[in-house]
Amino acid sequence: MRLLWVFGAILFCFHQAFSKTASFIKSPMSQMKLLEDSAELHCEVIGNPIPEVQWWFIEGEEPDETVSQLFDGARDYHVHINTTYIHHAASTLALFNLTLNDTGVYECRASNDPDRNDLRTTPKVKWIRSQANVIVFERAVILLEPNEVINKTAATLSCNLTNPASPVKGYYWARNGKKIEETYSDLGILYTEYTIPKIDYHSAGKYSCVFLTEPVAEESIEVKFPPHVVPYKHSENSNEKDKAVLVCVAHSYPLIVDWKWYKVTEDDVKKPINSSEKYTIKNSPNNSTLSIDDLDMEEDMGDYECLGENELGFKSAQIHLRVRSRLAALWPFLGIVAEVIILVTIIFIYEKRRKPDEINDDDDSGSAPLKSNAATNHKDKNVRQRNSN
Ligand SMILES: *[C@@H]1O[C@H](CO)[C@@H](O)[C@H](O)[C@H]1NC(C)=O
Ligand SMILES: *[C@@H]1O[C@H](CO)[C@@H](O)[C@H](O)[C@H]1NC(C)=O
Ligand SMILES: *[C@@H]1O[C@H](CO)[C@@H](O)[C@H](O)[C@H]1NC(C)=O
Ligand SMILES: *[C@@H]1O[C@H](CO)[C@@H](O)[C@H](O)[C@H]1NC(C)=O
Ligand SMILES: *[C@@H]1O[C@H](CO)[C@@H](O)[C@H](O)[C@H]1NC(C)=O
Ligand SMILES: *[C@@H]1O[C@H](CO)[C@@H](O)[C@H](O)[C@H]1NC(C)=O
Ligand SMILES: *[C@@H]1O[C@H](CO)[C@@H](O)[C@H](O)[C@H]1NC(C)=O
Ligand SMILES: *[C@@H]1O[C@H](CO)[C@@H](O)[C@H](O)[C@H]1NC(C)=O
Repeated sequence: MRLLWVFGAILFCFHQAFSKTASFIKSPMSQMKLLEDSAELHCEVIGNPIPEVQWWFIEGEEPDETVSQLFDGARDYHVHINTTYIHHAASTLALFNLTLNDTGVYECRASNDPDRNDLRTTPKVKWIRSQANVIVFERAVILLEPNEVINKTAATLSCNLTNPASPVKGYYWARNGKKIEETYSDLGILYTEYTIPKIDYHSAGKYSCVFLTEPVAEESIEVKFPPHVVPYKHSENSNEKDKAVLVCVAHSYPLIVDWKWYKVTEDDVKKPINSSEKYTIKNSPNNSTLSIDDLDMEEDMGDYECLGENELGFKSAQIHLRVRSRLAALWPFLGIVAEVIILVTIIFIYEKRRKPDEINDDDDSGSAPLKSNAATNHKDKNVRQRNSN
């Protein structure tokens, strides 16, 4: 019995030590959005037990403000709420296809008070709150001139912002999303021009004018040009029975949508190549790769043509494939082997020739200086021998 009491006391202490009122670890952030955009608000709360999270919408100014609780699927399914209660409470409020009357204050409320939803004890119940403003603006209307540029050698693009959401703090132009530094200006004007003196595959792209208002207003003009296609390497070498890989690279705006490969026959006829067991074709907007398996000297040697096509036209490029016989690949190796054999033979013969001399020398074995001495002795001996004869 006493043990149970002690256990109870310990449990109570634990409860005291670990029960914590709710507190925010992530609060929703205010944001400015354009009509038909979407917005996400995040709210995370810790506490023990894990707090409950609710979202509320406050519309209008103080005396006439209306407060309503938001739920998943509210406003014709434009509101989505996803809350998880794992370790702590994490909730995301997503607003899709924003309209002007989504503008307002969004409030994240959290509580882990056991009486929080008991209406009779309202004054005692503690909900903590965190608010964020979402302001929805009408989309900027930017008049473009021209709307797009097709197949021209030069062009001047212009943008005219007709309904700034806030004063303009400057503007710049961007190509394919990358700011063109020298076009930046901090003038508060609503009209800007950009001239492309020479349009080619290199300068083609999506050009945008960006007005620094809040939120930023931007619009794009597409500058389109026929594609540019080059071989990655003008010629490839490979060996019989091996595999060859031919690559063509493209620069293009709009992007290449179709690639074709041809084998150019001797009488200059282009035979289409389709993917098969022998041929593998891999395409991307930037390049195309033709792999040829099991090369044959007669059949596969020659010129290949790749053709890249975008909506404005096409461009082709040729690659020459040389196929060497397997034996040809062996020649350098055989050369080395032959060289080694000849060298070994020469050394062997040389050694064989030297041998008789050395046998005569076997009686004196010593260091080099002594050897020359020994040699003279040897000669002397010979002389003496001859003399005695
Ligand atoms: C809700 O959020 C959790 C965790 O962020 C995620 O795993 C889950 O897919 C989300 N559910 C929906 C319906 O978006
Ligand atoms: C967004 O709402 C507008 C009207 O408010 C509607 O015309 C449009 O089709 C909606 N778009 C989407 C993607 O739901
Ligand atoms: C938004 O305002 C329009 C009128 O401007 C109204 O018809 C519509 O019901 C409102 N939508 C919501 C969700 O309150
Ligand atoms: C673009 O110009 C080329 C030659 O300058 C022409 O062959 C092609 O038809 C033009 N394409 C378009 C879409 O105007
Ligand atoms: C911009 O557009 C407005 C409205 O159409 C027009 O009045 C104004 O003249 C235009 N500005 C320029 C510089 O073209
Ligand atoms: C090969 O490709 C050409 C055009 O690309 C097509 O006309 C032909 O039917 C294809 N042949 C086979 C066997 O798939
Ligand atoms: C290839 O094309 C993609 C777009 O399709 C581009 O983002 C990427 O930088 C290109 N890569 C190279 C190596 O050009
Ligand atoms: C071909 O394009 C792909 C994808 O864009 C890229 O990963 C690859 O590096 C390119 N290859 C060459 C040879 O440029």
